[in-house]
Amino acid sequence: MNYHIASFKAAYGTSSQLPESTRPEVSFAGRSNVGKSSLLNKLMYRKGLAKVSQTPGKTATINFYDVDGTDFVDLPGYGYAKVAKSEKGRWSELIEGYFNQDRRFALVVSLVDIRHDPSALDMHMAKFLWENDFPFAIALTKADKLSKQAAGKQASAIRKKLDLPKDIPFVVTSSSNGTGVNELRRLIDSYVAE
Ligand code: GTP
Ligand code: MG
Repeated sequence: MNYHIASFKAAYGTSSQLPESTRPEVSFAGRSNVGKSSLLNKLMYRKGLAKVSQTPGKTATINFYDVDGTDFVDLPGYGYAKVAKSEKGRWSELIEGYFNQDRRFALVVSLVDIRHDPSALDMHMAKFLWENDFPFAIALTKADKLSKQAAGKQASAIRKKLDLPKDIPFVVTSSSNGTGVNELRRLIDSYVAE
């Protein structure tokens, strides 16, 4: 697909507001601050289309983007301790509500920060996607923060910890220097085309 043809579509605050899914969807999930919105911008060749912040909890709604006829879905991050309980409840309702709907899931990109061991919630997310037969891939983010050697080492460690079958794709990415972004575009294309 042509990633240059991208625009913002809509934001939803509850899963019941979500429109029926009529087109393939590529969704981005991961803990707060892992870099979902940044990676989306990078994929779409756009700097500020998805709002990015140093403060976790920036994306508080489900945001849909149109990329050349495919819906790209930026999900709120999970696992941010400082968010009020009521907000946490609304977010998990949003994320779970989204995945529990009958939608055209083409690919779920599950993001994990390459610098750290996957959190319990990261493990939970990967297990959920695997056990429920979602087409999904793991994108390790912020690779620019490590040396190439350290990034390779961490990638293997995270793969081992997540304990997923070998055919689940892993892509090492950086929204800062563009590492892995073309590879991820190609991967998304192959899933959307299916
Ligand atoms: P929420 O919307 O809160 O769930 O966060 P998010 O996952 O959308 O993260 P976001 O894209 O807003 O990025 C969080 C912070 O990490 C920002 O300060 C980004 O500039 C930074 N960041 C994101 N990706 C990268 C990356 O690849 N490298 C580096 N060095 N920083 C990154
Ligand atoms: Mg975000």
